[in-house]
Order: sequence, then C-alpha cells, then structure tokens
Amino acid sequence: MAEGKVIPKITPGEITVQGVSKSYGAVRFRKEVVHDCSFTIERAKLTVMVGPSGCGKSTLIRLLAGFEQPSAGTLKLDGAPITEPSRDRLVVFQETALFPWMTTWDNILYGPRARGELTREALEFGEFLLAKVGLQDFRGKYPGQLSGGMQRRAELARAMINNPKIMILDEPFRGLDAMTKELMWEYYARLYEENRRTNFFVTTDIDEAVFLADRILVMSNIPKAHRHLRERPRQRHQETGALDPARRGHALLLARLKGRRGLRRGLPKAHRPQHLMDALLTRPVVVGLAIAGAVLCSLASYLEARGKVTHKTGRILNWTGYGAMGASMLLFVLAGLWGKA
Ligand SMILES: Nc1ncnc2c1ncn2[C@@H]1O[C@H](COP(=O)(O)OP(=O)(O)OP(=O)(O)O)[C@@H](O)[C@H]1O
Ligand SMILES: [Mg+2]
Repeated sequence: MAEGKVIPKITPGEITVQGVSKSYGAVRFRKEVVHDCSFTIERAKLTVMVGPSGCGKSTLIRLLAGFEQPSAGTLKLDGAPITEPSRDRLVVFQETALFPWMTTWDNILYGPRARGELTREALEFGEFLLAKVGLQDFRGKYPGQLSGGMQRRAELARAMINNPKIMILDEPFRGLDAMTKELMWEYYARLYEENRRTNFFVTTDIDEAVFLADRILVMSNIPKAHRHLRERPRQRHQETGALDPARRGHALLLARLKGRRGLRRGLPKAHRPQHLMDALLTRPVVVGLAIAGAVLCSLASYLEARGKVTHKTGRILNWTGYGAMGASMLLFVLAGLWGKA
C-alpha cells in the first residue's frame, strides 16, 4: 500500500502567540503563571518548548488548546483567534488518556468513530499508524495489558488519526525509563517525518528537546516568559525519518554541553521583593501569621490550665496570639486594597 495514499492530506497550521499572560486567583493573591509570552509555532515544524517543572508549560498548552482564555494577549491559529477547543489543535497530555475498557485498536479509532467518520480511509490510516507505532501484535489488548511505552505509542496513534492541523504534546514521555524514552523519541520522530504536521512538544528534558526539535524555545521560571529561541538543523535522515546515530550522539553531547548551560544562563537571578509591603503582602506571610496566632492562643490556655506558666505570662502569650491573628487580618484587607484588580 502506498503510504502517500494512506496519510490524509491537510495543510498544517501556524500559531502566533502575542503578549500572552495568564493569572489565577483574585486581587493581591493573584498568581501570574504565564507572563507576557510571544512566539510563533511555525508551520510544519517541530517546535519544542523546554522548561523546569512548574514554570507554566501546561497552562500555556491549555491556552493553545482553547480550554482556557488568557488574562492578556492573543493566540491565533492561521490568523483566527483561538477561543475554544477544536480538533484542529489536538493535545496529547502528560497523563495517559486511553480508555481502559477499550482495546488498543478501538482506542486508536475512537476519534473517527465518535464523529461518525469511520470510513475505509480512516481504517487504513489506523492500520498504518498501528504499524508505525509497532503495536500490530497488541491491537486486541487493553491498556492495562500494555507497558507504559506501548500505552504512550497507542496514545500518539490515537491522536494522529484525527489529523489535526497542529499536534500539541505535553510531556508525553514523562515517567518512562531512559531506554524506553529513547525508543519513544525514535517512534515519534519517524511519525513526525511521515506526517510533517505542525508539532508543539513541551518537555522538561533538555536531551529530549535537543534530540527532537527543529526549533527550541526555553521557558524559565521567573519571569514566566520564554527567554530563548534556538533554531537548529535537522538531525534525521530525510528519507526514512530515522535518527542518525552519529549525529544523535552529537545532539546529546550538545544538550549536555550547551543546552544545560544555556538553560541555566536563561534563568534569572533570585527574585527579590522590591518593597517591604510586597514582602509582607504574600500568601505565606498572611496564612503563617494566622496559624501562628491560633497556635499561640491555644498554647497559652493549655499552659495556664496546667499551671506551667503564671496567669500574667499566659495573658501575654494570649494577646501576642491575638496580635498575630489581627495582623494577618489587617494584611489580608490591605492586600485587597493594595492589589491591582
Ligand atoms: N487553575 C489554576 N489555579 C491556580 N494555579 C494554577 C492553576 N493551574 C496551574 N497553576 C499554577 O501554575 C503553575 C504552573 O503550572 P503548570 O501546570 O502550567 O506547570 P508546568 O510547567 O506544566 O509543570 P510540570 O512540568 O510539572 O507539568 C503552578 O505553580 C501551578 O500551581
Ligand atoms: Mg505540565
């Protein structure tokens, strides 16, 4: 069967992210998770965003997928604003999403079947993907009977059968052991070469980023904007999509020598509060004071009842506790007045 016929034709999409920020919470306790991000996910390229855990990668993905709206800025797919989820932008999440009651084959076919589009072409494409991820012998098995790596491969096929304009992958190989991970990179790289769709791949693993990417974006923790953009040449055989072992070694070396240092360079120095009020009006201080106050009051009553402290010391402890709780409430009110709505 000619592969060109099996893979449905589609124009890959391009996403532009302009000045995007995302905050959670109210007023002063608002937490800005993504800060003023601007970048492009280029058409038919594999863009990898690498960043430490908790820097806001999954949040950015939820915005790209249209599950949430940004607090500021715009996200556009081929010039059209992203306002809601769409099958044009398909996300493979870091947690497994295979249905445990369905076989590998049924899981892969889930998308077309749910849309009532289980055509001959879809079945052929499903067979093609099943072979590409090396699961022909496991088509009748349930997710619980597959290894972690097999589950991730089935998930890739399940996403790709929907033929999105852009594939968004949120740490799809997280939690796999090092050897399985490298195998997954090869499966994924080959699948990407076959399809040549726009792919946005998010990871915390620098080796993975350097191994796979056409373009690398580095996202740092503070501030939450992406800091660097690196363009790098392809490292795969154009004909087969297989990775060149010699170049692969080079890529891993590059990751260790330049990538890690580069990432560290990208990380800013420790963030210091600019004003005393900024330091005081934080959640840990307000909550900490309230807890400390409550503990002091209880301790005072306990020690006084047991005769361990005099009545006067008990009262001092008690009032110190009330003071701490009062200060916490005052800071809480001030935070509301001080904060930007
Ligand atoms: N709905 C929410 N409400 C409040 N805070 C949130 C919300 N979603 C995410 N956060 C916070 O935003 C920060 C970034 O979370 P996010 O999941 O985007 O990080 P990440 O870079 O994907 O991390 P990881 O690599 O561990 O998956 C975290 O500190 C998290 O607590
Ligand atoms: Mg995440």
